[in-house]
Amino acid sequence: MTAKRTGFMVMTLVLLVATAGCDNGAADDPAAALAQRGRVVFETNCTACHSRTPSQPGPVGPAVAGASLELLAAKVVRNEYPPGYEPKRNTNSMPPLVHLEKELPAVHAYLQRAP
Ligand code: HEC
Repeated sequence: MTAKRTGFMVMTLVLLVATAGCDNGAADDPAAALAQRGRVVFETNCTACHSRTPSQPGPVGPAVAGASLELLAAKVVRNEYPPGYEPKRNTNSMPPLVHLEKELPAVHAYLQRAP
């Protein structure tokens, strides 16, 4: 693992810990808490290219609101698409973000309810 990647992961963790204590009304709702965590992961790792409003196209990446877990796992981890899936763009310029595999259920939860 490169030092750069390690630093990036530490930064992500710090952000996750920093936001975990926020009063976001999700304490009694595990699904909301998962989505809240997913929002942090998404805004930290994806919004350089995708819009902060996931239903809108971003500067580089297309809209991703409502993305299935299958699509997220294929695209984010393996830079592929599920069988038969018609990509919104075929620029093939998104790098795989393998280290985020564990966070995909949270990102998925966020993208299901995101604006
Ligand atoms: C460096 C820019 C960049 C980053 C960072 C990035 N993406 Fe992407 N993403 C793209 C681009 C560009 C596409 C269009 C296909 C391509 O070029 O690979 C895309 C496509 C996708 C798609 C497929 C959309 C569709 O329906 O065709 C999903 C899902 C996706 N990204 C999710 C994510 C998630 C989640 C993250 C953060 C964990 C992320 N992306 C980070 C640039 C990025």
